[in-house]
Amino acid sequence: MLSVRVIRRSPKLIHNLYIVFVPGFTTHLFSSMSNSPKPKVYVTRRVPQDGLEILRPHCDITQWDSEKPVPRAELIRQVAGKDALFCLLTDKIDAEVLDSAGPQLKCIGTMSVGYDHIDMAECRARNIPVGFTPDVLTNATAELTVGLLLATSRRLIEASKSVRDGGWGTWDPLWMLGHGLEGSTVGIVGLGRIGIAVARRLAPFGVSKFLYSGHNRKEEASEVSAEFTDFDTLLEKSDFVLGCCALTKENQELFNKNAFEKMKSNAIFINTSRGGLVNQDDLFDALKSRQIAAAGLDVTSPEPLPTDSPLLSLENCVVLPHIGSATERARGAMSALTGRNILAYLRGESMPCQIK
Ligand code: DGY
Repeated sequence: MLSVRVIRRSPKLIHNLYIVFVPGFTTHLFSSMSNSPKPKVYVTRRVPQDGLEILRPHCDITQWDSEKPVPRAELIRQVAGKDALFCLLTDKIDAEVLDSAGPQLKCIGTMSVGYDHIDMAECRARNIPVGFTPDVLTNATAELTVGLLLATSRRLIEASKSVRDGGWGTWDPLWMLGHGLEGSTVGIVGLGRIGIAVARRLAPFGVSKFLYSGHNRKEEASEVSAEFTDFDTLLEKSDFVLGCCALTKENQELFNKNAFEKMKSNAIFINTSRGGLVNQDDLFDALKSRQIAAAGLDVTSPEPLPTDSPLLSLENCVVLPHIGSATERARGAMSALTGRNILAYLRGESMPCQIK
């Protein structure tokens, strides 16, 4: 005999749960969305279609359809009554947003690997899981990090500018000299997914030694024979210092006067993680006084960097507009993974990538 009955309306699930009792067989759970209205999802920006295509058949989507971030007041207004939030790293998600959303908000998916824009303690306290997008942007970001490192160390922007403005007089044995990777020591602060992907790409340039610092030793380090060391030793010994760690409360402005003073005078500092890792006034002073040789930044604080920022007046500072993951492939995959994270949770399944 087979009996079916509705047992509860789960606070987590968006649809009714049924239990099927089949005598002699294991109890089996399944779900039906047929009688329920579609869950409501708020998407905070115009994003690659991949994620929307995943959500659209099952969800009622409201979107801030613009290339610019949703204004805070609009976010607060629109999130009210939604079941899920599809957000970006430009949206500050805090108690105010969660309060405005209301108690029916079931989950958040951020289309980013970084989640310093989300108050995770608040989300945890309210049992709201947050999905993110690791792995799918690793290769794109690692590639950009290498590109930025080469642009900075071989002075590509400065050299290209000189061609346009007449600064290129003749081939000159003493002109536009930079620093190569061959025989160098590369220090990676945070040997996570992106850090190791960068190291793999740099190894063939003839790097003599990789150092890394962080909370723990990493197994993957052996692939590039990277040595675990403390932060200060890394700064003192590296020719290239790469900020590849996630921004946390503990490492805000980790790269400050104190840190720059420990670096070599030929050191090149690269940051493709978050601008909050750097004290930009201290970086300006270190670059201006040639305490360190150069810096390449894909991330700044704030973003966009104001066009009158002193950093932009320096020849030895290359600044890019946070384009680490900006490939068609990576951005499409980030959108798709955000869609899958949200849909999975709304269906009562685990998110493919949930922040722990
Ligand atoms: C992220 O996903 O956190 C990256 O910074 C985007 O490029």
